[in-house]
This record gives sequence, structure tokens and C-alpha cells, in this order.
Amino acid sequence: MAGRPILVFDSGIGGLTVLREIRRVLPEQRFVYVADDAGFPYGDWDEARLRERLIGLIGELLTAYTPAIVVIACNTAATLALADLRAAYPEACFVGTVPAIKPAAEQSRSGLISVLATPATIQRAYTRHLIDTFAAHCELTLVGSRHLARLAEAHVRDGACDTDMIRGEIAPCFVEKAQQKTDIVVLACTHYPLLADLFKQLAPWPVFWLDPAPAIARHVFNIARTVPRDRPTLAWPNDRPTDWAVFTAGAPEAPVERLMQQFGLVSDNTYTATQRGEFAR
Ligand code: DGL
Repeated sequence: MAGRPILVFDSGIGGLTVLREIRRVLPEQRFVYVADDAGFPYGDWDEARLRERLIGLIGELLTAYTPAIVVIACNTAATLALADLRAAYPEACFVGTVPAIKPAAEQSRSGLISVLATPATIQRAYTRHLIDTFAAHCELTLVGSRHLARLAEAHVRDGACDTDMIRGEIAPCFVEKAQQKTDIVVLACTHYPLLADLFKQLAPWPVFWLDPAPAIARHVFNIARTVPRDRPTLAWPNDRPTDWAVFTAGAPEAPVERLMQQFGLVSDNTYTATQRGEFAR
């Protein structure tokens, strides 16, 4: 299918968990997947510098791919810069992934909810605003994990799995209070669903691990019907059979290339080092 692609953006391979769900609802749609792996992990970045990087890099990608929709499939980026991106590029259509605090507060029976995210997402004013607006009646435990995004990348790249470390990272999510227990853990980093099976095995008791990707996909489906997608792109040949993957650090290693192929993605070698410019490692 020719036409404008949907661009799915993350700091690494976590956004594939969102791409997977969007594909389910829009199987004919073309995609460009962008991993800003030269900047990974975003959880460590100073806010002003990351905001500046995102505005510059997304601007370059808008020019290169003229996407119909840009999905910021990264909570760390979206909670910081979604509003700035919309202001900088009012012509573009952005969808962001932000912590699923509202649905968690609606569904929790015990009222004890944990939000598992990067330390940066936990500290964002945006996250605080979501809690104050939608979950004032619940008790939220905010767990900023320094290591899980890296562990998820390693697990998917080569099967690496440090179960003791993962158990330690998720342990603070499990709270018991007045005979109630945490019953929902919000996966507020798109890397974490890649570890969901391990989380379930290592959890001290069963909880609902809330992955917002299916809800994001439904949202993208709804707005895709309203956004014109038929304007031909500069960069998309009509006969190209696969979707593209772009890595800001350059061609990825063989295991990642294989992973991309499993997701129907092939590295875009036309997105050259010169284009990557200041965003390369
Ligand atoms: N996948 C990103 C998120 O959803 C974060 C990973 C990182 O760069 O630290 O927050």
C-alpha cells in the first residue's frame, strides 16, 4: 500500500510492543520504526537536553518520511515533550504513550496501584498531574527502575536474563496495607512488556500488569480514519514490500537486525549517516 506511513518512535526496541498492537488493528498500513539508540537510555537524560534532542530529531524524521501519524512510543519522551512537539510541528499528528494511571484507577479493587517506569517518567510533572487528576482516591506507589529498560534490551537481543536483578527491580511494586495488596502494576515504559512473562513468574503474588499498548493502538486506529494518508511520501517507493527501521546509532548488530525482520522491518540504509548528523552516537 502506498501513502504516508505511521512513524513509531522510541529510544530503543521497546516501541515494538506498541507497533505490534497497531499492526493488529491496521494490518495494511505502512510503518517506519525509529529507535534513537544513540540516545538510549532516555531515563538518564537531563530534561532540557532531551527535549531539545527530541524536537530536532523528530523534525528531521518528519521531513524524511512525511508520516501521517507519529506515535511517541516512549513514556519517558512523551511525558516530557509531547506538548512541545505539538507546538513545534502543528501540522503533524502526534500520539503519545503516557502512564495508564486513569484505567488503573478505574479497575483497581484494592486501591493499591504501582507505576513501574524509568526514574525520569516517575519524576515528570505530567505523571504527577495524571495521578492528581485521575487517581486521587487510590494509593499509588511510584517505582523508578534504573535497570529494567537495559535488561529488556539485553533479553530481547540475546536472551540474557538476570532474574535476581529483575526480581529486585519489581519488588517495590508489591505493597501490603491494611489487609489489602497491590492488584495492578502499570507498565509505564514500553520496554517492560518485553519482560512481562518474567515479571509474572517472579511476582510474589499475581497482579494485573497493565500494558497500555492495545488502548494506544485503538486510539491510533480511530485517528487514522481522520488523517489523510494518501499524499505520496518523498521517501516511500510504491513497490517497497517491507516496513522500515531506522537506528540513529547506525546499522544495528545482527541479533537486532533479525529481531527487526521478525517484526517485518528492514533497516533503511537511505537514512544515511549524514542525515543522522548530530543525532548519531
Ligand atoms: N521505552 C522508554 C519508555 O517507554 C524508555 C527506555 C529508556 O530509554 O530509558 O519510557
